[in-house]
Amino acid sequence: MTSSSSAIHKLEDYKPTPWLTPSVDLRFDLDLHLTVVRAEYEVVLSANQREPLFLNGESLDFLSIRIDGTILDPNEYQVSPVGILIPNPPKDKFKLSVENRINPAGNTSLEGLYKSGSMLCTQNEPEGFRKIVYSIDRPDNMMRFRVTISGDGTLFPIMLSNGNPISENTFADGKKEVVWEDPYLKPSYLFALVAGELVETKDFFLTMSGREVTLKIFVEKGNEEKVSFAFDSLKKAMKWDEDTFGLEYDLDLFMIVAVEDFNMGAMENKGLNLFNAKLVLADKKSATDESFEAILAVIAHEYFHNWTGNRVTLRNWFNLTLKEGLTVFRDQWFTEDMTDPAVKRIKDVLFLKEFQFPEDQGPMSHPILPKSYKEMNNFYTVTVYEKGAEVIRLVSELIGRENFKKGLKHYLSKYDGQGVTFEEFISSMEEVASHSIPNLRNWYHRSGTPLISVKETYSQDSNEWVFDLADTGSSEYPLVFSNSLAVFNREGSLLKEERRIMTGDRDQIRLPALDETGTKPIVSFFRSLSSPVRLEYKQSEEEIQILAKMETDGVSKFFAFQNLVFDWFRKSLASGKEENFSVILDTISDSFGKGWDKTYHSFYLSFPGLTQISESVGCYEFQKLSDLRLKAIQKITTTFTPQFQTLFEENRKTIPIQTKEEIGKRRLKNTALFYLLHDPSKKFERLAMMEQREAKHMSEEVSALKYLLEVDSKEKENSVNLFFEKWQKDSLVLDVWFAAQVASGENRTQVAEELENHPQFNIRNPNKVRSLYFSLARNPLSFHKEDGSGYDFIADRIKRLNEINPQMAAALTKLFSPVSKQKGELPKLAKKQLESIASLPNLSKELGEIVVTILNSL
Ligand code: ARG
Ligand code: ZN
Repeated sequence: MTSSSSAIHKLEDYKPTPWLTPSVDLRFDLDLHLTVVRAEYEVVLSANQREPLFLNGESLDFLSIRIDGTILDPNEYQVSPVGILIPNPPKDKFKLSVENRINPAGNTSLEGLYKSGSMLCTQNEPEGFRKIVYSIDRPDNMMRFRVTISGDGTLFPIMLSNGNPISENTFADGKKEVVWEDPYLKPSYLFALVAGELVETKDFFLTMSGREVTLKIFVEKGNEEKVSFAFDSLKKAMKWDEDTFGLEYDLDLFMIVAVEDFNMGAMENKGLNLFNAKLVLADKKSATDESFEAILAVIAHEYFHNWTGNRVTLRNWFNLTLKEGLTVFRDQWFTEDMTDPAVKRIKDVLFLKEFQFPEDQGPMSHPILPKSYKEMNNFYTVTVYEKGAEVIRLVSELIGRENFKKGLKHYLSKYDGQGVTFEEFISSMEEVASHSIPNLRNWYHRSGTPLISVKETYSQDSNEWVFDLADTGSSEYPLVFSNSLAVFNREGSLLKEERRIMTGDRDQIRLPALDETGTKPIVSFFRSLSSPVRLEYKQSEEEIQILAKMETDGVSKFFAFQNLVFDWFRKSLASGKEENFSVILDTISDSFGKGWDKTYHSFYLSFPGLTQISESVGCYEFQKLSDLRLKAIQKITTTFTPQFQTLFEENRKTIPIQTKEEIGKRRLKNTALFYLLHDPSKKFERLAMMEQREAKHMSEEVSALKYLLEVDSKEKENSVNLFFEKWQKDSLVLDVWFAAQVASGENRTQVAEELENHPQFNIRNPNKVRSLYFSLARNPLSFHKEDGSGYDFIADRIKRLNEINPQMAAALTKLFSPVSKQKGELPKLAKKQLESIASLPNLSKELGEIVVTILNSL
């Protein structure tokens, strides 16, 4: 019954909780170092027979336990480092009171109740609540919360929790006490508390049924001017969920708190979302276009969880993708509607290919419904989130978006107030579509990206071309695919579009030849990535180029052009010399003057990064790739210098506002600048410095800084210093500054070593850790350096982080996943480092699970 800390949780072992606590009365006596927490639960037996009762509890200082008001005799319960066991509960229904102490200021794991800046705040998903108070801390235990917060009114003038404020009192001695009640049932992971000296900003939203909802964003003093974009984003999300799905907000108050020290992006606690400050605070001076878009998406994501996650929640953590895959799909759809659908889809597919495909081909590969885990924190992965979203997108492709909307409403009304599994979601969708979808469920059980091979043969008899598609992966889990395809002739005219459903591992498509002589039609498969697959299809350079110029689906046109580039790398690597580049230049030339959307054009023109190239062509000789990449970029630059100058000048005068037009101008101008900076004469470096000095928008400043660093310009020091002088007081902007200095180029390990001694660096702040250590570990030239210095440095910081913040330590260790693919001594050097991590005396559960998984691949 007791869960020991090294236990493996297996999906097949899942059993409903034998005891439930349908309501809880929580009391916090706040103090930075010694907070007393008391919980009074209503406990009811839910199993048929009385079983031992186990309450989770970690890092808690136990004080007392009572049943129905009577203190338990010490032989009636056992306290351990993972909780309290009551072997023989006296009745089927009783009141249980527990009391314990915690030290929020000493909690550097940033899970449970902890201190950030001047506030105390919580992060409980998935299992942080047990670090606050003894509890049945699992999502299938839903509670009604009443929360009393008491503490020093000058230290904690603001005291927040979920739901509605019920009362507020300040006493003569300066003590303050507030009571919150949440009318909705929720599991412990959605509980939140915030207390501190915060500034409240306010707005409102009128719902579709005419109710006025008060919106509040709480920030640390000095940031109150940076919330207007977040409010706008929230209101857009609320409106969109009403318009698209008929989903209305269900409380009269919606609150967001911006937190400086946060392990992840944000958290959807009922009525009280907590956010990493970088995903709330923005103004045109200090935020890039990318950060504005991230704010829009994440505010929407957390808001959308109110239905997909909170009102209908999870039965167990294996089903995390039920709320995350679905909610990511919803936020992607929202951003497609708010910005440009093709550009948004390109970004999402690029992200999937760069991060999820490698995860799924590497040691961490797992199905979107993991079969087992040791530490759930390790499974907040790009697979569960982004591949999970692709599977939901696939559902919407298979049944159509209108059915999908109906299906979601049906699912939410049928299971409102319950914790369910992916099965309830899929069957709701099948119910509205009035048919079952064979093999769909296998997407939840099969790991790895399916590889679809295409073989083409000509049939003389019928003058047809026959395309045989085969899923070359696991036969244990046959899948269903949606294959959006289009057929073009040799001039690039669109002849036909079709959506085929491929059930099982094979499909055959027959197409008439283009003429009597049997000329082959050009086919574009899985357009806009209509299923999350890798395609193995050898098309000629001529065919790919026609698609890169003429595909009517902008997403597939973009990826066709990328394929031309990757093909050039493959050929050049194979022959050991730079192959003919003219097809790429010709395709680029064709893109000028077409009047394309500016953001789209800038994506089309931007040259793939080193990691992306290496993953796409399967080569891990980064120095070689980097040299080739540089030559390719220089060819483009010298061929199109006048065009890039024109693009730069034409788009130079941008207005610092977040409209599609201005964002597009900035992007295109910056892309032009990127190429101009690769001019061997270096004559454009002054232009970049000028751009940085005169910038009116952070996107302009950051691009100049990044590119000057990337090309290793002699101006780079000036640029770095100028940027620091201007922004040294803004911690979020400095994150970008730290990152840019280690994110590209060789020998950045030494730079990181210097930067971590910078007074503004702080290893306890996850944003700083991500800026410096994660950026370095994602820079292949420095991280996978032959002498092992990159591994050595990162491994050492992982060891430090293990003592401070195990979640960050584990997340950083995941970046060792590709080491088995590296050349020469590197896998051996990595193994040595990982083994020394594995033998740490205080190895955390989080870190242990990751390090062992990667070691097993070596
Ligand atoms: N549910 C949150 C979100 O997706 C993220 C929580 C992440 N938790 C974690 N332990 N990594 O919005
Ligand atoms: Zn989420």
